Amino acid sequence: MSRPEPTQNERVLGVDDFIVSKTDLKGIITYGNRIFIAMSGYSEAELLGTPHNILRHPDMPRVVFKLLWDTLQAQQEICAYVKNLAKDGSFYWVFANITPSFDRRGNVIGYYSVRRKPRPEAVQVVSGLYRTLLDAERRAGDGQAGMKASLAILNRTLEEKGISYAEFVLGL
Ligand SMILES: Cc1cc2nc3c(=O)[nH]c(=O)nc-3n(C[C@H](O)[C@H](O)[C@H](O)COP(=O)(O)O)c2cc1C
Repeated sequence: MSRPEPTQNERVLGVDDFIVSKTDLKGIITYGNRIFIAMSGYSEAELLGTPHNILRHPDMPRVVFKLLWDTLQAQQEICAYVKNLAKDGSFYWVFANITPSFDRRGNVIGYYSVRRKPRPEAVQVVSGLYRTLLDAERRAGDGQAGMKASLAILNRTLEEKGISYAEFVLGL
């Protein structure tokens, strides 16, 4: 499936809405609730069995997803602000909590995400930070150098505030 061309059209989640999706260990979508499907603009059939990066917006810095996967692989939960790309090119901001799902023996069997409407003030702060991170990634190139550069900026930002990433996102 070809990537939609991003537009400036914004979709906004309702205050009482929750977007839920599940993936397997590789990030392939195995479940999406009705709001997940509606916001994405895709049909359920188009989403199931498809990598979750189908919703990846080009304005998202790669370092955020690296942090997400590193945290999940360490069997921890993570919260993140994410700008998503819908099928028609419009975008929608979410505040996501993503957790590993465990079986009875404690093995990770997949991942689970619940998202809600973020506060506009938080989106304002995060989109400024993401623009800075993305610029650093673009300047340094696609490979590890780009990731290193944006990770350094993210870490410096947190150090200046004297807080962890989790404290930062939860405090916005
Ligand atoms: C449960 C779960 C939910 C995810 N939700 C999103 C999402 O809503 N939007 C998104 O761009 N990536 C989401 N991701 C991350 C994607 O799997 C992917 O890492 C990301 O889109 C970046 O694409 P890339 O890894 O191909 O660079 C999610 C991952 C998991 C495990």
